[in-house]
Amino acid sequence: MAERKKSPLSLLVLSFALLQLLLFLNVRAVAPAPVTREAAEAQALLAWKASLESHSLLNSWSLHNNSNATSTESKRNSTCNWLGITCNVAGRVTRINLFNASLRGKLDNLSFSSFSKLTILNLSSNALYGTIPAHIGTLTQLNILDLSVNKFFGHLPLSLGNLTKLTSLYIYENSISGTIPQEIGYLKNLVDLRISFNLLTGTVPPTLGNLTKLTTLFIHTNNISGSIPQEIGYLKNLIKLELSSNLLTGTIPPTLGNLTKLTTLYIHENNIYGSIPQEIGYLKNLVDLELPTNLLTGMIPAEFRKLSQLGVLHLSSNRLAGKIPKEMGSGSIPLQIGALATLRNLDLSQNSLSKEIPSQLGNLKMLENLNLSHNMLSGLIPPSFEEISSLISIDISYNSLEGNIPKNKAFQEAPFEALSHNRGLCGNASGLQPCNSTSIDKGHLSKVHKVVAIIIALSISGTIFILLACIVIFFFMKRRTKHTTIELQEMNKGDLFSIWNYDGRIVYDDIIQATKNFDSKYCIGVGGYGSVYRAELSTGQVVAVKRLHPLEGGSAHDKKSFNNEIKALTEIRHRNIVKLYGFCSHEQCMFFIFEYMDKGKLAGILSCEGALELDWIKRFNVVKGIAGALSYMHHDCSPPIVHRDISSNNILLDSELDARISDFGTSRLIKPDSSNWSSLAGTYGYIAPELAYTMEVTEQCDVYSFGVLAFKVLMGKHPGDLIHTLHFPTGENILLKDVLDQRLSPPSGQTANEVISVAVVALACIRANPQSRPNMRNVSQKLSSQRLYTSEPFQTITLCQLNDLDI
Ligand SMILES: *[C@@H]1O[C@H](CO)[C@@H](O)[C@H](O)[C@H]1NC(C)=O
Ligand SMILES: *[C@@H]1O[C@H](CO)[C@@H](O)[C@H](O)[C@H]1NC(C)=O
Ligand SMILES: *[C@@H]1O[C@H](CO)[C@@H](O)[C@H](O)[C@H]1NC(C)=O
Ligand SMILES: *[C@@H]1O[C@H](CO)[C@@H](O)[C@H](O)[C@H]1NC(C)=O
Ligand SMILES: *[C@@H]1O[C@H](CO)[C@@H](O)[C@H](O)[C@H]1NC(C)=O
Ligand SMILES: *[C@@H]1O[C@H](CO)[C@@H](O)[C@H](O)[C@H]1NC(C)=O
Ligand SMILES: *[C@@H]1O[C@H](CO)[C@@H](O)[C@H](O)[C@H]1NC(C)=O
Ligand SMILES: *[C@@H]1O[C@H](CO)[C@@H](O)[C@H](O)[C@H]1NC(C)=O
Ligand SMILES: *[C@@H]1O[C@H](CO)[C@@H](O)[C@H](O)[C@H]1NC(C)=O
Ligand SMILES: *[C@@H]1O[C@H](CO)[C@@H](O)[C@H](O)[C@H]1NC(C)=O
Ligand SMILES: *[C@@H]1O[C@H](CO)[C@@H](O)[C@H](O)[C@H]1NC(C)=O
Ligand SMILES: *[C@@H]1O[C@H](CO)[C@@H](O)[C@H](O)[C@H]1NC(C)=O
Repeated sequence: MAERKKSPLSLLVLSFALLQLLLFLNVRAVAPAPVTREAAEAQALLAWKASLESHSLLNSWSLHNNSNATSTESKRNSTCNWLGITCNVAGRVTRINLFNASLRGKLDNLSFSSFSKLTILNLSSNALYGTIPAHIGTLTQLNILDLSVNKFFGHLPLSLGNLTKLTSLYIYENSISGTIPQEIGYLKNLVDLRISFNLLTGTVPPTLGNLTKLTTLFIHTNNISGSIPQEIGYLKNLIKLELSSNLLTGTIPPTLGNLTKLTTLYIHENNIYGSIPQEIGYLKNLVDLELPTNLLTGMIPAEFRKLSQLGVLHLSSNRLAGKIPKEMGSGSIPLQIGALATLRNLDLSQNSLSKEIPSQLGNLKMLENLNLSHNMLSGLIPPSFEEISSLISIDISYNSLEGNIPKNKAFQEAPFEALSHNRGLCGNASGLQPCNSTSIDKGHLSKVHKVVAIIIALSISGTIFILLACIVIFFFMKRRTKHTTIELQEMNKGDLFSIWNYDGRIVYDDIIQATKNFDSKYCIGVGGYGSVYRAELSTGQVVAVKRLHPLEGGSAHDKKSFNNEIKALTEIRHRNIVKLYGFCSHEQCMFFIFEYMDKGKLAGILSCEGALELDWIKRFNVVKGIAGALSYMHHDCSPPIVHRDISSNNILLDSELDARISDFGTSRLIKPDSSNWSSLAGTYGYIAPELAYTMEVTEQCDVYSFGVLAFKVLMGKHPGDLIHTLHFPTGENILLKDVLDQRLSPPSGQTANEVISVAVVALACIRANPQSRPNMRNVSQKLSSQRLYTSEPFQTITLCQLNDLDI
């Protein structure tokens, strides 16, 4: 035994010494047969390296490199120090990870049979080509095989079926042709299979139905034909299924309704026909359902109302008929995630939908994009759309709609093409006729009729009505109080841990991985409440992660502000308010996931070169956008939300330099029935003066901060003492043109008028007496009205003149 234990070591020393000598003499080709498995691995790697056409990052892959090392141990472990190589305690290679290592060449000369301990082979994102060699099937211990984003071609080797320990198999983004081997059904441990973006043909093998551990199955963007095998319905753990952009035919198997964990289902761009099975409505976790560009017929199943997590529903370019089921818009309480209340994108374009648009669509309070174009919809557009303030774009062209368009920005600012080719739309939007007085009268008339009818009914049964009303009000009040208590309990639960699965694409691990467990190199900002990280997810999507400082000594403060922020943000949706994608609340880890804003803070842009990019038109839009968002928070949310910390540090800009309000850590819900006294919060220089002697939180505090902010946007810097100067006679002759940001040339024409309107509004907002400030709705309307404030030449306008104007 002792002999056997000793000999491998001495042999090893010998073989390395010999190898080095041979390599030194440049006679590598006649190297002797390796005597240990470790040396065999080293040799196999070197042989492969020698066969590669390009390997500029593999300098460390050399036996020379360790010649200075004195101890046998470090020599013995030499391969283990090479780039991308990981060993076990015995010095055997267990992982090869050469992701994005600038490799070009083939795999043929990599002797897989030498690596009997290999568990991970990750060669993703290189320029490797040729066929995947059949002898890859000898890596029987492999858990992860990632050959994605390379230039492999030819057929998939049947021997893949021997890698029965595989949990992840990625071969996406290559040029693999041929069929998906049915042997893939042997890989019973597979959790994640991605073979999309290749040239695969043939059918989806029914044997896939045996891979019951699968959570992710991506086969999209190939040339797969045949129908979707009903065996897919056995994959009960599936979370993401993407079969889109293939040549699939047949119908959607009803067995898909068994995949209740699915969040993402993509079957778009195929030749699927028949009706959408009602069983799809059972996929209660579905966030993203995309079936456009198929040959689907029949109705949209009423069961879709059960898809309570749905964020995206795309059914465009099919042959769906019938009417849009009114159930799709049900769910009346925006607070609870009601039926389809989470829907952000609804695309039903290019179908044969008929009848009227159900007014229940107005209940989709988070809807951002709506496309109903190219259908046969008729009648009036329900005014309930006026209540969807989150709406960004609409397209209702190519229908038979008529009458007034809803008084909603998305409709009124829609390009004409989005409204064109209808029977007779009218209203205040580009390219449309203003509505006839007759049509308006008609509306009035019918309203008058209704009112008369109600009055008659009232006078007949006045007492009964009053009695009923009392009962209704009583129950309503009772329900309200109950509702609030439940909510508060939930928020106070100490161990609340939750991730809001935006698009089903963000998971906790993704965030931790993308930020390398909140490594400081991903940190893009630190604030009073926490640090913000930039996180690029595995999907390529970039998000901002705001992590709150860990709790210290059980301080309830952070927790409280965290819960405030969640509560405020989940309730509001507005195009000028930063979007919350997800959150996590736990003792050790509390963070938010927000949409990422390319241009960062307004304060940052104003203080640097970027200020030039932010010209007068953009600056006006920034102020107008913030005013709109504050108006929404103060007047359209119930209870109203006061931000309490409006400052240029809390306004973020997207790539188009559109503004979004962020940072709701200090926001506070104004409950009509509660006192609103609290500790001072806000940014110095933006805090309303009355907060110095009263701690009452009111909308007027935000109005004041908004005024200061509007000044900062005009001036390029904080107004500072100017605010106080205005109240003294010395301030009377300050010219507007002199306080404007001197880095930009003075505005002219319509832009000058916009700048004046911002100054007028800002001056009114910073009035010392809170009662004499305008409210945000007034401000927002004033900024949208394009009213001409003065005919005086721009050069001679003083702040004092503008201060006297009544907005
Ligand atoms: C790869 O191995 C083959 C034999 O299997 C040999 O003919 C060829 O020369 C090797 N290629 C390189 C670049 O070493
Ligand atoms: C030796 O390996 C190191 C990394 O471990 C590498 O930076 C260096 O270039 C290598 N030297 C030679 C001569 O290959
Ligand atoms: C090995 O030693 C030589 C000279 O003694 C030196 O130039 C070289 O950098 C050393 N290599 C390593 C990896 O330490
Ligand atoms: C080989 O390297 C591994 C780490 O890569 C280490 O844990 C192990 O102790 C080393 N073995 C020897 C014999 O030095
Ligand atoms: C790959 O590496 C290059 C630098 O060598 C880098 O520019 C690129 O972003 C990397 N790609 C990925 C996907 O990591
Ligand atoms: C895969 O396993 C089968 C037996 O199931 C065997 O016949 C075949 O040679 C193996 N293929 C490879 C490449 O190891
Ligand atoms: C391969 O490595 C890259 C970079 O480390 C990683 O992003 C990718 O997830 C790995 N592949 C698998 C299948 O784990
Ligand atoms: C894939 O299918 C399309 C449409 O039938 C065809 O134009 C294309 O040539 C096919 N590609 C391959 C690689 O089979
Ligand atoms: C699953 O595997 C079993 C054998 O293990 C086989 O009999 C059965 O046909 C397979 N089912 C599918 C759907 O491939
Ligand atoms: C799967 O779906 C089919 C069709 O909807 C149904 O008959 C069957 O009972 C379901 N199986 C399970 C295990 O739920
Ligand atoms: C709506 O859908 C139609 C057809 O699917 C498309 O042409 C149009 O661009 C879409 N409109 C918008 C605003 O995306
Ligand atoms: C508007 O008036 C014209 C005649 O002036 C009439 O033909 C048309 O039907 C009216 N449109 C509506 C929507 O009432």
